[in-house]
Amino acid sequence: MPETPAYPVGLRLAGRRVVVVGGGTVAQRRLPALLAAGADVVLVAPVTTPAVEAMAEAGEFTWERRAYQEGDLEAAWYAIAATDEPAVNAAVTAEAEARRVWCVRSDDAEAATAWTPATGRSEGVTVAVLSGGGGPRRDPRALAAVRDAIVAGLGDGTLSAPRGRPRTPGVALVGGGPGDPDLITVRGRRLLAEADVVVADRLGPRDLLDELPPHVEVIDAAKIPYGRAMAQEAINQALVEHAKAGRSVVRLKGGDPFVFGRGMEEAQQLAAEGIEVTVVPGISSSVSVPAAVGIPVTHRGVAHEFTVVSGHVPPGDARSLVDWSALARLRGTLVMLMAVENIGAIAEALLAHGRPADTPVAMIQEGTMATERRVDATLATAGERAREQGVRPPAVIVVGDVVTVGPAAGPGAGPAAAPAGPAAGPDAAPAADTRQ
Ligand SMILES: C[S@@+](CC[C@H](N)C(=O)[O-])C[C@H]1O[C@@H](n2cnc3c(N)ncnc32)[C@H](O)[C@@H]1O
Repeated sequence: MPETPAYPVGLRLAGRRVVVVGGGTVAQRRLPALLAAGADVVLVAPVTTPAVEAMAEAGEFTWERRAYQEGDLEAAWYAIAATDEPAVNAAVTAEAEARRVWCVRSDDAEAATAWTPATGRSEGVTVAVLSGGGGPRRDPRALAAVRDAIVAGLGDGTLSAPRGRPRTPGVALVGGGPGDPDLITVRGRRLLAEADVVVADRLGPRDLLDELPPHVEVIDAAKIPYGRAMAQEAINQALVEHAKAGRSVVRLKGGDPFVFGRGMEEAQQLAAEGIEVTVVPGISSSVSVPAAVGIPVTHRGVAHEFTVVSGHVPPGDARSLVDWSALARLRGTLVMLMAVENIGAIAEALLAHGRPADTPVAMIQEGTMATERRVDATLATAGERAREQGVRPPAVIVVGDVVTVGPAAGPGAGPAAAPAGPAAGPDAAPAADTRQ
């Protein structure tokens, strides 16, 4: 039977009482948005999930630690009946009806006077998707999928609303992540979609440049290690000129702009020219590249610290700011960037200052990209293995026992398969039932 459509409305709940009956997973999911809306939440439940209890203990809302009683909805503007007992939910709904309080019911949408839409946010807009409009009732997963498609489209610019879209002024320094185009942030991708000019490095998600519309000017700021480079001054000058001409400029950088990325130099230069700078953090290769091949930079009982070091100048070089003897004394994980050329000398320095010779080492070249490869070694063999296997930049080198805690190959082995793609994992699952 066709469903009567619900009337969509936005409730302004700040300072207004909302009563949630039931402390299970439904309450756990609804509470953050109610609290974000500033609602004066009273939760009625004899027991709750640990997460709900932690929120109550933090004073985020009032918890009446008991069963529901008639009269609990007094002074409420809105209510949620979310116990696992239909009779209790029915009683809450009946009280709400009598008091003319809009009430969501988790176990029976038909008996409720209000429905929670599938919601998401992007660009200062709240997207709320409800079933209805004369057709059959839609599966909550279908509503969540519509919501996800709209939010993702607004986020990455594939669904554009140009007239209403506020443009980001000046220059955005965008961390593009380690290379896989899926590993840029949603904000970074949106700014890229808005850009008139993109100044891109060799590292980072180069594939995304192909998706840019033809009118976008792409400037290649490739800084190939030990090779030809577009001078930093020239990059800065290009950023300044385009921004001053009123264009929307994205400086797309590999990893995070502030991890060996010269991001602050560019930000300072732009600020000195009076140009507004937006910094969009990125996923640094220092953690994501090891993760992509199954190496955790920390692991309980194995490493309580990780140190990220640039190896672009060798130990003993007057320009080096690194205390290699101190690093050799640390027990934790050492993550080295730009260290391929100097890995032999670095390994020697670490050994000379006491790091054990059998410490596992992994060298991951072109991590998260189609050409990714991993070469394993020990501190004693790292220099030789890098040479004989032809390890080339860009590579992240990980030193420490974390290298062998995962399922991948151990020291001395050849390339190992990554255990999971970057998008895998529990959080990659689409949100399920978002409506009651
Ligand atoms: C100039 S640094 C920039 C680091 C970047 N800002 C970050 O947060 O990842 C360049 C170095 O990062 C490392 N790197 C960046 N992307 C990489 C990738 N996809 N695979 C392996 N190493 C990478 C390499 O050590 C490379 O020489």
